[in-house]
Formats: sequence, structure tokens, C-alpha cells
Amino acid sequence: MSDIVFVTTTLYTKWLDYQSKIIKDLFPDSEHIIVDGRSSWPNSWFNWIDLAKKSNSKYYIHIDEDFFITNKDEVIRCIEKIESEDIDLLGCSDVYHQYRQHNPVAINTFFMIGKVEHLRDLDFSDIRFQWVGDSYVNSMNLHYKEDYSNGFEYKHERFADCKYDNFEPYYAFLWKMKEMELKFDYLYPHFDNRFKSTNPRIDKDSEDIGIHMWYTRNWNSDMIVSGVSNISRYIELEKYLNTMSLQEIGYKYQTDKATHHRFCDVYDRYLSNIKNEKLVFLEIGILNGSSIKMWEEYLPNSLIYGADLYDKSFLNSERIKTFILNQEKDDDLNKIDIKFDVIIDDGGHTMLQQQKTLNIMINKMKSNGIYILEDLHTSLLEEKHGYGNTKTNNTLNLIKDLKTGNLSSNDYFINEYDFNRILSKIKYIEIYETKPGSITSIIIIK
Ligand SMILES: C[S@@+](CC[C@H](N)C(=O)[O-])C[C@H]1O[C@@H](n2cnc3c(N)ncnc32)[C@H](O)[C@@H]1O
Repeated sequence: MSDIVFVTTTLYTKWLDYQSKIIKDLFPDSEHIIVDGRSSWPNSWFNWIDLAKKSNSKYYIHIDEDFFITNKDEVIRCIEKIESEDIDLLGCSDVYHQYRQHNPVAINTFFMIGKVEHLRDLDFSDIRFQWVGDSYVNSMNLHYKEDYSNGFEYKHERFADCKYDNFEPYYAFLWKMKEMELKFDYLYPHFDNRFKSTNPRIDKDSEDIGIHMWYTRNWNSDMIVSGVSNISRYIELEKYLNTMSLQEIGYKYQTDKATHHRFCDVYDRYLSNIKNEKLVFLEIGILNGSSIKMWEEYLPNSLIYGADLYDKSFLNSERIKTFILNQEKDDDLNKIDIKFDVIIDDGGHTMLQQQKTLNIMINKMKSNGIYILEDLHTSLLEEKHGYGNTKTNNTLNLIKDLKTGNLSSNDYFINEYDFNRILSKIKYIEIYETKPGSITSIIIIK
């Protein structure tokens, strides 16, 4: 989604690399502007504005170095919320959560979404700061005014008392936005006990958008944060970022294997002990590439093939190879000259496609391979849904027959000879209904 430009003012800790990789993986078309914040603080905070205003993107997302997006869909939902509710600036209030007790009208810029057009007339090049009493005073006379609370509405729970101060120098940016009569709206600051972090959510019950750690400057120190040492929080975070489960990675990329059907936990059970091997992996059915990217990340040493009726070569990379294939055509399937450790059929899901693909592709499995026939619930739908005649050619029944070893119908797209040939190649089969209407199967090859 090139509609977003990301901006980070950084101290160049190693966390910037983690953050940048996530942004690149999730928003490959977006620019990530990185500004050196190591010197000339607080003026250096304002340097991102001149860079971001040159962007062609519609939105900017300002994130601190210690913010890690975990859910792409929630970021997109934020943008949709901005559009539908005519919001100009969205983020967490700088009060009402575990770590901040400052101005409630102010947005903490650890995760802040705004519109690039609003940056275009700003000029902070001459701003200077002085610390007076308990607040910053700036040379542009931008400070909190009572008017800014007019229309202030905080719809989430409040965890702390507030004071209407000018604590952060970057508040000057926010007060300028208020002078421009722009509309602020506030995300819910969810306290995540795993990392003692603040994870913004659109609403209390929605998913986390990302993880905000706080105290990056002292990330490897023993300072106590919410009862534990700061370094131990960051060690937990690093473990999490490096060993995310398949379900978590799938969620990040928003494949329906994770978000809707919850098949990923099942697949994790079969793949976790071989995931670091050099597997030859094929998924049939690519759509926008969510699952291919999930596999690429989850299987760090594997070669990931993706096949689809349509050209998906935009996904090709060192470890991802896509090709065009119609899984209804014998010739297309037969001509594949590769042996696979894992095949997953998440293509068109018709009875014909599933059965024909299994019939031919099982010949291309390596010994001890795993063949995953996904979305078997299409076998439970009536013919009018377009998956074929499920009364006679039901793939779920065929898989159950292969599990018991008894062919119960002559109407499948697989005849008795082929049924027995497939049977002879199978060690065992498991069928999983992860929730009502979500069925997948695991076929382990001898
Ligand atoms: C359910 S989507 C795949 C979703 C993807 N695996 C994921 O989890 O993000 C199904 C894909 O199958 C492809 N498809 C449909 N009919 C096909 C056929 N006959 N041969 C090959 N691919 C087909 C569609 O183009 C579509 O991209």
C-alpha cells in the first residue's frame, strides 16, 4: 500500500533493523524515512516533517524506533477509520495509560497517523526550546491553550489523572495542528503483559496494531520498568520477533489460514520440527501473496514455489519462485518436474481441482513429505456455490475413504486404480475442523 509513508526518528539501535524489516515485509511499496535523532535534540525531532511533506503518499505514520507493527490489517483499518470519520490525526493520548501522565489532548508520537497534505505548510526550521519550570517553552509560542480541549472526547477507559501541560517539545507540532483546527482521535492503549508494552488498538476489544516498548535509549539497562528490568523486556521482545509462531506470522501477513480458518496452529505441529531444513515447498493458490510471504518467513532455508492460474511473478525473489498453472489441466500438473517436501493445495477448491491435483501431485512428493489439502469445507457446500457436485464427487468423503482404506463410491474424479495407487503412497491422514466450517487435512507420505 503506497498510500503510506513511514517515518522514524532514530537513535540507531538494533531495533531499527527489526522495525524496518517488518515495514518492508508488510508494506513493500511504502517509503520508510529514517531521521537521525542522536544529536540536536529536541530540534532534530522536527526534521522528519520536511522530508515527509515531499512524499506522494496520502498518509504518514510516525513511529518511534521501538514500535513494531504486528498486524497489517489493523493499520489499514486505522486508515479506513480516518477516512470514514474524517479524522486528521490518530494515535494514543499522552495520558491514561501505564507510562504517561501528561497532556490528554496530546497524541504520543510512538504511533501517529496523519495526512501528508497537513505537513505541506509547516516550517519548524527556526524553532528553539527552553525548559522552564516543568515544561518546554518554544520560540514559536506554540503551547497548550484551553480552546484545544473544546470537543476533546476520550471514549476509552482512563487509567491516570491528567495535567494539561507542555511536557514534550514535539507538542509544538500538535498545537500547530490544533491551530489548524484539525481533528484528533485517540486509540486505545492496551497494556501487554508479555513485554510490559503499550500496544495501540482501535478499540479495547480489537487486535493490537503493534507493540510499543518504551525506554529504547536504555534498552539494555537494568532500569526497572513495570516491575522487571528493561533488558529482560527487550530480550522477550527479541525472542518473540525471532520465533513467531506460524499463526503469528500468518496474522501479520493476513492470510485467512491464520485470521479466519486458524489452520496455522495445525500446520505448525507438523512443520515446526523441520522448519529450519532446506525444504522444497509448493503452494497452489497464491492470491495476493499473503501465505507465500508467511511461508518464506516461517521456513527460512526453504525454496518456496507458488503456482496460480494468474501471473504472480511480482512475488519472485531469491527464495520464492512462482509459476502459472491451471490445476484442472492434467498437462499443467504432469509437466512439473520437481519433487516436493510439502505441497499445499489452496487453489480453486472445486471437487475436480482438489481430486485431480491430489491424484497427480502425490507422485511428485518426496518420501516423508506432507501433502495438505486445505479448505475441505467446500465439500459441505451445495453445488450452487460453484465447487462442483458435492453430492457425488465430495472430496471430504474421498479423504475419509483414503483414511479408512475403503473406496465407498465410484463417482469421485479418482477411479479405483488411482485410489489404490494413492493409498499405497500414504502413511496416514488426519482431518481437522479447526472451527465450524473450517476443515483441512494432512496427508503424510510414506
Ligand atoms: C484462496 S486463494 C489463495 C489464498 C492464499 N493461499 C493465501 O492463503 O493467502 C485461491 C487462489 O487460487 C487461484 N486459483 C483458482 N483457480 C485455480 C486453478 N484452476 N488453478 C490454479 N490456481 C487457481 C486463484 O487465482 C487464487 O489466487
